Amino acid sequence: MKKLLVTGGAGFIGSNFVRYWIENHPEDQVVNLDALTYAGNLENLEGVEESLGYRFVHGDICDGEMVKRLFREEGIDTVVHFAAESHVDRSITGPEAFIRTNVFGTFNLLEAARESWNGDDPECRFLHVSTDEVYGTLGPGDPAFTEQTPFAPNSPYSASKAASDHLVRSYFHTYGLPVLTTNCSNNYGPYQFPEKLIPLVFINALEGKPLPIYGDGMQIRDWLHVEDHCRGIDAVLQGGRLGETYNIGGVNEWANIDIVKTICQRLDQLRPGDQPKAELITYVKDRPGHDRRYAIDAGKMNRELGWKPSYTFETGIEQTLDWYLVNQAWWERVRDGAYRSYYEKHYGR
Ligand code: NAD
Ligand code: TYD
Repeated sequence: MKKLLVTGGAGFIGSNFVRYWIENHPEDQVVNLDALTYAGNLENLEGVEESLGYRFVHGDICDGEMVKRLFREEGIDTVVHFAAESHVDRSITGPEAFIRTNVFGTFNLLEAARESWNGDDPECRFLHVSTDEVYGTLGPGDPAFTEQTPFAPNSPYSASKAASDHLVRSYFHTYGLPVLTTNCSNNYGPYQFPEKLIPLVFINALEGKPLPIYGDGMQIRDWLHVEDHCRGIDAVLQGGRLGETYNIGGVNEWANIDIVKTICQRLDQLRPGDQPKAELITYVKDRPGHDRRYAIDAGKMNRELGWKPSYTFETGIEQTLDWYLVNQAWWERVRDGAYRSYYEKHYGR
């Protein structure tokens, strides 16, 4: 039986991971540590609260003493570290929070694990969840990012994640901490905060609002369904070699404009009477430092751990858009801020 500390478990990927883990490893215990920033939403975990062995802790990974206490009190042996400031656009307008949480917060967790584990237990694991954005940008004909690609981050977000990746690596080489790092491509799926491209475009299109495309819309991202990411993290936790990094991706490159058109087509099928949704596409000023292309070589995950994505983009995007359609109440409560009262209602007492 494992005792997991999941950080950032109320966010998009973290909440999907908590659900995934409880379903697939019901014997384990999961402590979810989350500061509930704008991106943290306990409604993502509705129903999970009742699971035996699950506990939510409202706290900030930058509070070093609290994190150390939690390790001691809970007997944590496995860390899956999602907590981060994660939105590139927000990192451009306010980089400080990114340095604080992504760098200093990660440092606190590493220190707590180092103090608590002391090299005693060969089963302990510290899995750091990172992004392909640390590798920078690719030209049209460049080979995909491998684990050997040098870091060249271009936004305060990716720079802060790169810094945390380096710190994690250093704790393996210096202290022998049993670390693993995953660098994953763009995720999509249920519970993604509706300021990210796919939910934003879907919701705006549904409501007949403009669909903002940065620059020429020809930037390319590799997209992976969040459930496949969760399975990938599980595979790395079970069989990954300590100190190694693993690239996780969908081998599924799409230009932004084509994703947006795909979403429009799907809505046109669902709402045949409406104005064609592609007419809402609006080109806007480009993001500063906007990376042109990301592509992931996930060969190591496949060779060493037998992992490959289970969703095709067609099945994944359809499932995701259907989810947003059925769960309108969820995203309306995010948009009007009502989700923030959930904590008080459920945990206030
Ligand atoms: P998210 O923004 O949806 O969620 C982040 C969570 O962390 C929120 O619940 C938030 O409340 C919490 N948090 C933020 N600061 C905290 C702090 N100081 N202490 C405790 N909790 C804090 O992010 P996401 O999209 O779910 O991404 C999760 C992780 O995966 C991040 O580390 C991100 O870099 C990485 N990642 C994301 C993607 C993607 O496409 N979304 C791709 C690759 C890697
Ligand atoms: P995003 O979902 O913010 O993820 P990331 O920046 O981490 O890749 O954006 C995905 C792509 O979509 C990125 O190239 C920026 C672009 N984009 C738009 O064109 N319009 C938008 O309104 C948003 C939010 C993103």
